[in-house]
Amino acid sequence: MPTNPHPGRLITFEGGEGAGKSTQQALLARRLRDRGLDVVTTREPGGCPLAEEIRRWLVGGQPGTMSARTELLLILAARVAHVEQMILPALQRGAWVLCDRFLDSTVAYQGHGRGLDLALLHQWHEWALGSLIPDRTLLLDIAPEVGLARAGRAVSAGSHPDRFEQETLAFHQRVRAGFQALARESPERICIVDAVQAVAQVENQIGMAIRDLFVDP
Ligand code: TMP
Repeated sequence: MPTNPHPGRLITFEGGEGAGKSTQQALLARRLRDRGLDVVTTREPGGCPLAEEIRRWLVGGQPGTMSARTELLLILAARVAHVEQMILPALQRGAWVLCDRFLDSTVAYQGHGRGLDLALLHQWHEWALGSLIPDRTLLLDIAPEVGLARAGRAVSAGSHPDRFEQETLAFHQRVRAGFQALARESPERICIVDAVQAVAQVENQIGMAIRDLFVDP
């Protein structure tokens, strides 16, 4: 059942690097549009012009060039702009918003990965987002060794590895453990999907995981 207070639905995709979130986001968007639904696809950090600008500061550069606290505040600044300018208006008009990463990434990366205080992150989110939490979160779980190799293949096909992709394996292992801990804490919201499976299998599992959201509140 939906949990956000607006007529639309908020579904987030989470997971480590190379988990296939954007592929699955595009597939789900197509399926929902085929049902005649108003669908908005977006991502974090980013999703609106101001937040996309902040994203450039966040993903560029080398590990160690930005403190964890600066990183957190930039991510939150981008999130507030994105929520105010994009997500809330879409939810209020009844759209289904599919977001590639959201608040769980902050707990996993800045909390478990960087070691920032989890209670503090929780307070910041309450302040920044109020009662807005996703109706369903699809956690595409993958071992970092496998995900980073996949992301590396994408990189060698064009772009450079970003600041997070260049982090150590131990960092990415903490991030994965963080996501898994979040899923244990909120099993009704966060659904773990084995991202090593074939794309079609992952897509089917996601379809099953959101079925109850079609029911009107
Ligand atoms: P992407 O790889 O999914 O495009 O996201 C860019 C990076 O931003 C990714 O490596 C994880 C990082 N990130 C955080 O560290 N905290 C956050 O809250 C979000 C949304 C992303």
